[in-house]
Amino acid sequence: MKRRDIRAREVSSQGVAAVPRARLALPVSSIRSIKGMNDALPREAAAFHRVEQAAREVFGRYGFGELRTPIVEEAALFQRGIGDSTDVVEKEMYVFPDRHGTPLALRPEGTASAVRAYLQHNPAAEDPLTRWFYVGPMFRHERPQKGRYRQFQQVGAELFGAANPEADAELIAMVRDWLAALGLNGVELQINSIGDGVCRPGYLETLRVFLRAHAGELCDDCRRRTETNPLRTLDCKNPACQKVLAAAPTPADSLCEPCRAHFAAVRDFLGKLAIEHRLNPRLVRGLDYYTRTTFEFTAEAGLGTQNTVAAGGRYDGLVEALGGPATPAVGFAAGVERLVLALGEDTHAPPGPDLFVASHSEAERGPALKLASAARGANLWAEIDPRGGSLKSQLRRADRLGAKLLIVLGEDEIRSGRVKLKQMGMAGSLGAGQSQEINLTEAVLEVRRALGIAKGGG
Ligand code: HAM
Repeated sequence: MKRRDIRAREVSSQGVAAVPRARLALPVSSIRSIKGMNDALPREAAAFHRVEQAAREVFGRYGFGELRTPIVEEAALFQRGIGDSTDVVEKEMYVFPDRHGTPLALRPEGTASAVRAYLQHNPAAEDPLTRWFYVGPMFRHERPQKGRYRQFQQVGAELFGAANPEADAELIAMVRDWLAALGLNGVELQINSIGDGVCRPGYLETLRVFLRAHAGELCDDCRRRTETNPLRTLDCKNPACQKVLAAAPTPADSLCEPCRAHFAAVRDFLGKLAIEHRLNPRLVRGLDYYTRTTFEFTAEAGLGTQNTVAAGGRYDGLVEALGGPATPAVGFAAGVERLVLALGEDTHAPPGPDLFVASHSEAERGPALKLASAARGANLWAEIDPRGGSLKSQLRRADRLGAKLLIVLGEDEIRSGRVKLKQMGMAGSLGAGQSQEINLTEAVLEVRRALGIAKGGG
């Protein structure tokens, strides 16, 4: 046995050894998908695809190019990038050692990975403005509920290299355009500024003083966060804490002059772009990297408490914190499952095939395969029943699929080269149930004609 084979075997036997024997004894049918990680069957996957496709189109108009990063990264990237005392890092990351003991993590979000890729590939050497978007699964060990999953799909975008408020406004406008292109109604945009490295330390101290004075009225988490990450107390969901925090000082009260001017300019540009928004002084977001602008888009329909469909903000300190040069940046991400839910996406049966080719007997299977293949070559959706079966069962299937046109091939048709093109349901140039006789050699052309697709057109 070659050396490489031996190693492969060792790895696989180690892997199997990790699974307890009792679980191996279970029938495979008792293995379900992991809690909070869902399958998307074709209709739902099609709804995902529509949301993602709209993003690609709209983001392309803003000059954003696609970035694909691995699903697995070193856990240290997220720990340093997102912050030690955030819920995501503290409680929700899937972390496991690789074979050398290095802690790896399933990515819980895309921003830290984008910054890692930015540092690794240095796109700024070519163009000081880098605009990336990404689409892909993220993983967080949260309590699953409607709109909240342990594996979920994000569409996100990051813009590196622009400190100006125009960048914040343009990014928000891009999200607005995308949500509008999707036809999402009842969307509200909330925005805030949480200051920067100059004014935030002073604000955090003021907030701490307030929180310590009310420690007896706060939940355990907020009491702990008073010292570790006081900003996070502002969006605590505990009603008792919310009551106390209603009177807490907000970041906006302590903004330094440059942060105040930046925020005013962002709002002014949003006004110029006719983007309605509401100031939410308590909008602090759950990740530590934000500076200045934070924003969230919420949607009314179908979501309940998990109604934030897209969220983001500026993070001017993150590239430097991860070891790069000082680089301003702003970005956002959206949950695709939440958008699909909010859109009430139509997951009904898709329209049926353009053409169904049935065959009388075994002898016509070859010509049927060939005709269906030629139709596909002309951009048509064509089906046969690969199981063969009786003509009756093939016709039943054509009907159930909602095929628009039908051709039945038999001995006579093959010999004469003449076939019947039958309209099955949908209106076209033939009436429903009508048929016309055509030459087999021109069948694809006739099918296109019957469907109202111009000769040579798409
Ligand atoms: P985030 O607020 O943690 O921000 O997530 C963004 C969006 O992802 C949420 O608004 C929500 O729609 C969706 N989402 C988050 N967690 C879940 C979940 N467990 N199940 C379903 N959907 C979820 C970020 O991830 C930042 N990286 C955004 C960003 C990019 N900021 C700057 N650049």
